[in-house]
Amino acid sequence: MKNILVTGGAGFIGSNFVIHMLGKYDGYNIVVFDKLTYAGNRDNLLEVSDDPRYHFVRGDIADEAAVDAAVQQYQIDTIVNFAAETHVDRSIMDPDAFIKTSVYGTYVLLEATKKFGLERFHQISTDEVYGHIPAGYSSREGDSLVPRSPYAASKASADMLVNSYFITYDLPVTITRGSNNIGPYQYPEKVIPLFATNAMDGEQLPVYGDGRQMREYQYVLDHCQAIDLVLHKGVVGEAYNIGTGVEMENMTMVEILLKALGKPMSLIRHVEDRPGHDRRYSLNIDKIKALGWEPQHTAEEAIIKTAKWYQENEWWWRKIKSGEFKAYYQAQYGARLAEEDQ
Ligand code: NAD
Ligand code: TYD
Repeated sequence: MKNILVTGGAGFIGSNFVIHMLGKYDGYNIVVFDKLTYAGNRDNLLEVSDDPRYHFVRGDIADEAAVDAAVQQYQIDTIVNFAAETHVDRSIMDPDAFIKTSVYGTYVLLEATKKFGLERFHQISTDEVYGHIPAGYSSREGDSLVPRSPYAASKASADMLVNSYFITYDLPVTITRGSNNIGPYQYPEKVIPLFATNAMDGEQLPVYGDGRQMREYQYVLDHCQAIDLVLHKGVVGEAYNIGTGVEMENMTMVEILLKALGKPMSLIRHVEDRPGHDRRYSLNIDKIKALGWEPQHTAEEAIIKTAKWYQENEWWWRKIKSGEFKAYYQAQYGARLAEEDQ
């Protein structure tokens, strides 16, 4: 591994991964290949922008000619695919781009891996591919994929394509399935940055339904370290769950967040639930632990650290929240917030 194409590297997790890899290793060149959708943001990569080992290409993973040109120009030997449309609520409003990017786009990247004989294709997947998990059970990597939102279905489809290329063409692939990430540079449509920035402005926090849904909130750099480990020590053809192994109810998360920000609980507002909302995700992380990884943060530590970052980095999120975001917020929350408290 020497020249790594990081697709979706201008997004939240991708940019944290690029910063992590350039900071930890001397010998890798990193090419970020990103379409710069509303979620892509070159501000996320400012701290590495002068590094001679870092390059940026604007392109769509569903565009075969653009992918092939980048692979050839930079003599890429490894692809790490973060590129995706990532927000469940937007996938409910309009699934089109989710299918184009995660299904067709992943296919294009797999074809490039095959055509140019790359050393590794790594797919960044999610715990959402397993669907809602009943109490008392944690998903294992071999479990059936039962996605329940268009977002989760687009990601599960990509996982299946990746597996099929391993079985059919012997392609050197690996997959990681992460739980909910939080930390610096997360677009403020996702729950923690949305709630943190709303709270800082004294606005209501729209909690879906009873708020007793459960998620495994993990710190983004823990996730990046695990991806790094799988790239170096993972077994080809295998998938690895990455989380904390401990899930938390959304109401608990909101209380920790408001306390960390010094804001009142009266900002909590229960609104109409998300259609098909998965109540619980839970990952069994024995397999990644056996490779030699442990999460470095509990969910509570991750929430507090993330709240502090948003408090200290208004330069980053204020310009996002004043743009396209306002129309999205109105479409997603306007009617819900106008209704009586749920
Ligand atoms: P994000 O929305 O912050 O970033 C996605 C990036 O992909 C953006 O920079 C965007 O411009 C780019 N992109 C979108 N479509 C593209 C295309 N067609 N071609 C090239 N670039 C494109 O997402 P994120 O939260 O950083 O998630 C990254 C990956 O991790 C995704 O694959 C997601 O499914 C997965 N994941 C996310 C979480 C989470 O909690 N955020 C958890 C598990 C897995
Ligand atoms: P989100 O950050 O959208 O991640 P995902 O749905 O992919 O897990 O949401 C995390 C949890 O927070 C999920 O249970 C839905 C809930 N949520 C709210 O209650 N209100 C909101 O405004 C949002 C965006 C999410």
